[in-house]
Amino acid sequence: MATRKSRSLLIVGLIALVGLALFLVLTAPSTWRLLNGPRDLPDAGVPDLVNGRTQFIAGDCATCHASVGKGDETLLGGGRSLDTAFGEFHMPNISSHPMDGIGGYTVEQFIMAMREGVIPGKGNAYPAFPYTSYQRMTANDLRDLFAYIQSLPPVAGKVPDHDLKFPFSMRRGVGLWRLAFLDGKPLPEDLTQTAQWNRGRYLVEGSAHCVECHSPRNAMGAVPFAKRFSGGPNPEGTGHIPNISQDETGIGYWSVNDIARYLEEGVNPIGIKAGGDMKEVVVNTARLSESDRLAMAVYLKSLPGVEAPNAGAPRPNRTEEVVMLAAGQAHAGPSRLASLAASPDMLGKQDVLYVVSPTPFTLEANGTGEDGKLLGARGWRCSSAKQGGCRCVWMAGSRTVRKARCTRSRGSGSCRPCCHPRPSPR
Ligand code: HEC
Ligand code: HEC
Repeated sequence: MATRKSRSLLIVGLIALVGLALFLVLTAPSTWRLLNGPRDLPDAGVPDLVNGRTQFIAGDCATCHASVGKGDETLLGGGRSLDTAFGEFHMPNISSHPMDGIGGYTVEQFIMAMREGVIPGKGNAYPAFPYTSYQRMTANDLRDLFAYIQSLPPVAGKVPDHDLKFPFSMRRGVGLWRLAFLDGKPLPEDLTQTAQWNRGRYLVEGSAHCVECHSPRNAMGAVPFAKRFSGGPNPEGTGHIPNISQDETGIGYWSVNDIARYLEEGVNPIGIKAGGDMKEVVVNTARLSESDRLAMAVYLKSLPGVEAPNAGAPRPNRTEEVVMLAAGQAHAGPSRLASLAASPDMLGKQDVLYVVSPTPFTLEANGTGEDGKLLGARGWRCSSAKQGGCRCVWMAGSRTVRKARCTRSRGSGSCRPCCHPRPSPR
């Protein structure tokens, strides 16, 4: 009896040991590397600090890592916290400080952190650090970025460790996540596409990590491939991040210029300003070059559409009718549209219009942009219907769309100034 008991204990012990060994092997950084093979190395050239700064800006490094309360993006002492379902992350110090920051890293260690999620002295990095996107960056860009960060002032002071729930508090376990979800692939030039598209893809998929915010995540915290860019709940638990795929529930009706302008001025095609986290993103995209913004826009326009209405937004109108959205149905995502859509009375006051129409309208005020569907508009709007001149759509009450004749403004051929006669509010 006693021997049988000790035998089964031995077996359980052995299984536990094998399990532990397997866990240690699977979660080891070297296992991932072995399975994913080597990547490009930086060439022998001198680091280009100007390019390093561009990567720094595109990568929003300071948004997460800048010293809290200093208002200076060159001080990377960290301290900002990120509240997620897994617990609270504290952004580490990545200044050039040799002990408290990353001043003691070699360039190889930096590249490993950015591509493999392996932090010297700490081990596996949590994917709250968006290395699933940064892994696409070339070694030369990472070398330049590292040199730029090293050229910024050292900031003393370590940030306290993250405050995560069990089992997420076990850093080692992140190795399993990495095996499952980090593919380690570079982004080789796609020769069937233009140089502009390739540049746009490199920025959007790499340093600018747009997909990290603009996608839903599964229970494992990974982005399902088929739903990339289709928006989702904010991981911080507040609000919804919009769909930016090329569907009418996304930004299918924005032109390349609309997107580039949004990334520069933070104003969407109907004049509404970017809010929430996107405001911080635009502070950075506004400082990239116009050609980089256009390249990102061209790439975004080439993405497949994913039908995923933003939280609270209605399904797209597939009928031939022009319909007015009831105020309660109107876009309730994080954008300002939601707050403006309070009630029909408010809509009247605020001079706001929501129209969903199967007929493409020109969205840009000067009528030069590509056609798209008008999903919302502010104030009196005159739009050029695809066929048959200009028309004015205006909301009166909760469901009515009044149309009136518009006059083309002389010379320009566009549909402004708007409608004559102006319909008057009921
Ligand atoms: C969305 C927020 C976010 C952004 C943007 C971000 N990081 Fe981080 N970063 C983190 C978090 C969170 C960690 C901690 C990860 C961990 O502890 O496993 C981290 C860790 C790091 C580390 C490891 C430092 C250490 O000692 O733990 C480096 C290096 C780093 N980031 C560099 C960068 C660079 C360079 C950029 C810009 C290209 C950047 N990060 C952008 C969130 C961010
Ligand atoms: C830190 C998270 C985050 C990142 C990174 C991010 N976005 Fe956004 N984005 C948002 C949020 C939140 C909004 C909603 C803004 C609002 O409420 O006005 C938004 C809105 C947008 C919109 C407007 C969509 C609409 O329907 O109004 C576009 C276009 C957009 N982002 C493009 C991008 C691109 C391109 C990138 C990469 C360069 C990017 N975003 C990176 C969070 C992010």
